[in-house]
Amino acid sequence: MKALILSGGKGTRLRPLTHTGAKQLVPIANKPIIFYVIENIVATGIKDIGIIISPETGEEVKQTVGNGRRWGVNIQYILQPEPKGLAHAVKVAKKFLGNSSFLMYLGDNLLGADIEEFRRKFVTEKPEALILLKRVENPSSFGVAEVDKKGQVKKLEEKPAKPKSDLALIGVYLFSPEIHKVIKTLKPSPRGELEITDAIQQLIRQKKRVASYIVDSWWLDTGKKDDLLKANTVVLDERIKRNIEGKVDGESLVTGRVILPKSAQVINSEIRGPVVIGEKTVIKDSFVGPFTSIGSEVKVEKANIEHCVILDDCRIKKIDNLQDSLIGKRSVVKKNDRKRQNFLRVSLGDDSVVEI
Ligand code: DAU
Repeated sequence: MKALILSGGKGTRLRPLTHTGAKQLVPIANKPIIFYVIENIVATGIKDIGIIISPETGEEVKQTVGNGRRWGVNIQYILQPEPKGLAHAVKVAKKFLGNSSFLMYLGDNLLGADIEEFRRKFVTEKPEALILLKRVENPSSFGVAEVDKKGQVKKLEEKPAKPKSDLALIGVYLFSPEIHKVIKTLKPSPRGELEITDAIQQLIRQKKRVASYIVDSWWLDTGKKDDLLKANTVVLDERIKRNIEGKVDGESLVTGRVILPKSAQVINSEIRGPVVIGEKTVIKDSFVGPFTSIGSEVKVEKANIEHCVILDDCRIKKIDNLQDSLIGKRSVVKKNDRKRQNFLRVSLGDDSVVEI
């Protein structure tokens, strides 16, 4: 079996972070989202992985991910010239996929479940497609499944205005080569894309077997903007183990599950995990509270922060109580201490939000 990761798409901004790069590379607990995807695939034993990339962000994805050697797998890149839909991406990958069955994984989906269990079900039950579903509060933002009392999928619809259920399609699918035949016959959807949801719906219409499972574990579509802080909290909560290699001086206290690499320093500060700190970051005269990820080469000085995601090269200085915040690369957040200038001074990028 092969795996296909979809990391193309429009390369548009991931609000509220001004991010013109690939959304699949945005870090969660200081690790790019696509690395979690690859690790989930590697855990199933699959060795051949194709990654769909776009002309805009493809180079950045290639540079960050590499050839797969670090995970002991082969990674090939497949250029999709335009983001014409998930089923179009499969079409573009046909040469790589050949006549293999394959696991398709959307590069912006984070899933807490062990997908090996579903790969095994696919191999033993031999359906033409296996889909994963999750109950959600906002089904019209997703592909939606209508399922009968026996759990058989009756119908799938992509982002319906009036969803018939609250069961959303998770971005992890298993397919037999039969899917290529239906993709050949697809027409673009109202949003102008070849939808994988429509391809699976065709299989259902042709009475081919489509297995479905409702997943209990957490699932986050990080492409859906506000889920980033949530994803950071979940991953820090579940996956972080204490590892203190950096310098912690005698005036500091580091408690709980905290990752502090060798090149990072904690000076006269308190860190209360779960917290991840990046390379060469310095925390001085500060408090860093639970569920915070701080990137590389960040300086936090005389600040009090909690439940935040702070990306690389930021400076946070003399800030009393920063919480629930997402701060993009190279940002500066500091107290305005100029005399007689007791006002707020900001210089914000696109799509920024400031709550005072
Ligand atoms: O996240 C689950 C949802 O993903 C499903 O419930 C929907 O049925 C499915 O259509 C998909 O919806 P999205 O609107 O969230 O898909 P999005 O356009 O965000 O693309 C998902 C990933 O695939 C993303 O990493 C970009 C990549 N992609 C997307 C398109 C349209 C490609 O590589 N090529 C493409 O042409």
